[in-house]
Amino acid sequence: MRQPELWRAHRRLCETYGDVVHLSMFGEHFIVLGSQQAIFDLLDKQSAATSDRPQNPLIKLCGQGFNFGLYPYGQWWRRHRRVFSQYIPLTVPEEQLLIQHEYATLFLRKLLTDPVALCDHIRYVFSATIVKIMYGVQVANDGDPSVALIIRTLDGLKALLSGQMLVQYLPILRHVPMWVPVLGTQLRQLAEWRAAADEVKQVLFSKTQDDLVQGRENTSVLGRSLQELDEKKGDVNLAEEHLVAMNTCITAFEGAAETTFSTIQGFFLAMSLNRDVQKKAQVELDSVVGPHRLPEYRDRASLPYVDAVLKESLRWHNVAPFGLLHCAGEDVEYRGYFIPKGTTFMSNVWACMHDPEVYANPDRFLPDRFIRDGKLDPEVRDPSDFVFGFGRRICPGRAFAEAQMFDIIAMVLHVFEITPPLDEHGHPIDIEPRVGGTFLLYPEDCRCTLKPRSAQAEALFSGKRSS
Ligand code: HEM
Repeated sequence: MRQPELWRAHRRLCETYGDVVHLSMFGEHFIVLGSQQAIFDLLDKQSAATSDRPQNPLIKLCGQGFNFGLYPYGQWWRRHRRVFSQYIPLTVPEEQLLIQHEYATLFLRKLLTDPVALCDHIRYVFSATIVKIMYGVQVANDGDPSVALIIRTLDGLKALLSGQMLVQYLPILRHVPMWVPVLGTQLRQLAEWRAAADEVKQVLFSKTQDDLVQGRENTSVLGRSLQELDEKKGDVNLAEEHLVAMNTCITAFEGAAETTFSTIQGFFLAMSLNRDVQKKAQVELDSVVGPHRLPEYRDRASLPYVDAVLKESLRWHNVAPFGLLHCAGEDVEYRGYFIPKGTTFMSNVWACMHDPEVYANPDRFLPDRFIRDGKLDPEVRDPSDFVFGFGRRICPGRAFAEAQMFDIIAMVLHVFEITPPLDEHGHPIDIEPRVGGTFLLYPEDCRCTLKPRSAQAEALFSGKRSS
């Protein structure tokens, strides 16, 4: 579990022992799933029995007790998921697309004025969009203290997904006194994350509630949800429903923030390393969208190559190599094996996304693999069927995520040239694509140089006129 590049280690394991491998650690059972067949058979087809999540005291210790993505399978999880799907449906509503587009345009402006702070701007665009949609709160800019506060809630989640916290494996360690070296520091850190998460959850909730009390318009997810609950207040347990709404909104923020941030970091890296891909996408954008406007999400069907760039971004830099862990909520039988209730499934999504039998040269960024006769080829394995997870726990924000990432990718390619970063003498720096992390991966270095493609392209978003 603590091997570097665990996804490669698991692939080697499956090459030796087959695509369903049992591991045991501290008395816990783990099943490594190494093929599309095994993953779909267990997590999709037997979803009623395999949609539980492994429970662990670390979830609450690091302040993530509100995150319904980590809840056990059951009624309480179902209530949250229902609220989420009611307000973030799979057909993304027009008003949400508009907010995504508005923030994406702001993102272009930020890239123009301060291209070196690329990662801060990526962080900003995804965090600010989801906060606006969920709470109706306008996050002013990258330096806004509320962004820093919100981002602190993610530290607890990231620690949980890093697999590096000792209490995760030996829960008894949580009773160790704070002065014990290493462990004490980890426990203190956990307490800070808990406090940050509680504060953010409460602060954002109160801001929306305050708008409603003061009679200010707030059409956000939380705003509408609170108003609808208010109308039904005699018939429902209002405190409980408020808690569900509060948890759902902050979970949406957490689900959205890191995954999209890391995918788009990977996209910028891929573009600076693959100028030919960029050129092809730009030829398509120039002919379909033209020089007088920015692309929008509704152009997606007419931009198959740009769509292929999104698919390849999701595949090449596979953010969550094991998705989120599932666990057997009851005993399961598969290929004659008995899998007891409580067993954790580790599906090697990364191996499916880097299978050379399916994707030739899997380490290369080649959107053309998805194209046949100028259209998306339905015969090629679609990364979206893997990277968003499986069965009843499949990512409910996948349509929202794809819409926002497509919009950003199309807009960036339409107006910017992306090239490798330069050293102090103006020479290009060679970036070796590497990732860090275990359950959530980030490119180690995605520096690049960004320049508007032309004065006309710049005028589309900067407010300046082209001469
Ligand atoms: C690149 C973008 C994204 C990727 C790769 C991604 C991936 C995933 C994966 C792998 C899971 C676990 C699925 C499983 O258990 O099988 C998940 C769950 C979840 N995601 Fe996403 N996600 C993305 C964006 C988003 C966005 C934008 C939102 C919110 C708007 C979101 C909200 C959630 C929630 C709430 C869950 C928990 C679902 C549950 O346990 O029932 N995700 N996501």
